[in-house]
Amino acid sequence: MKKEMSWLFEGFMRKLIIAIDGPAGSGKSTTAKLVAQKLGYLYIDTGAMYRALTLKVIELGIDPGDEEEVIKVTRDTKIELLYENGDLRVLLDGRDVTEKIRSPEVTSLVSVVSAHPKVRDEMVKKQRELGKNGGVVMDGRDIGTVVFPDADLKIFMSADVKERAKRRQKEMKEQGFDVDIDEIINEIEERDRLDSTREVGPLKKADDAFEIDTTNLTIDEQVEIVLRKAYELINQNSN
Ligand code: DC
Repeated sequence: MKKEMSWLFEGFMRKLIIAIDGPAGSGKSTTAKLVAQKLGYLYIDTGAMYRALTLKVIELGIDPGDEEEVIKVTRDTKIELLYENGDLRVLLDGRDVTEKIRSPEVTSLVSVVSAHPKVRDEMVKKQRELGKNGGVVMDGRDIGTVVFPDADLKIFMSADVKERAKRRQKEMKEQGFDVDIDEIINEIEERDRLDSTREVGPLKKADDAFEIDTTNLTIDEQVEIVLRKAYELINQNSN
């Protein structure tokens, strides 16, 4: 295809907004990242944004439960998501905190920090700005319900808690944290409870989201299901 023609073609292809929500360990981040790579879209990990903010709150010694203090920090913080050779790097005020935001301490406090309505307001604004031009796969808890309620494609991923805990344990081992499986199950259940019972932007399947139970699926299978749905929409739009 001639260069001018391919530009014209790309112009007709609508760039989708794909929202992927689900609880911890459901496979959403891995799936979202691979789907974005395949489509040449931007991948936005909104959990990483809340984690980076939580790290800053911890480092400043602020009470994570104090909404007014936390919102001051939020407004005064720059969080950037960058890609290096296909890997996501998270910058907090210019400093690379990619590994630090996955620590057990951050994980145990992120649900407290992210439950504050004003903090969510601020984060949702940033996330809308990042995804407004489409061509984006965004994962989190409230993407299909709050951030982009009109997203072109909404996926809700779920999985049995024991399977999710096993995946988390493996992930943590790779990062150098050796944690007992029962401890991880408790942590995941507590985080699920906090994330789904908060008043603003709770973890919840959007009515029009397509649910994928990943308990017995491989990553390739999850990615394929989402990609098939995305291509259906892309083809519909370019016909
Ligand atoms: O996806 P994750 O496990 O890295 O997310 C960490 C926490 O951030 C999660 O327990 C709740 C919060 N979060 C949120 O409240 N809203 C989002 N859109 C994404 C994450």
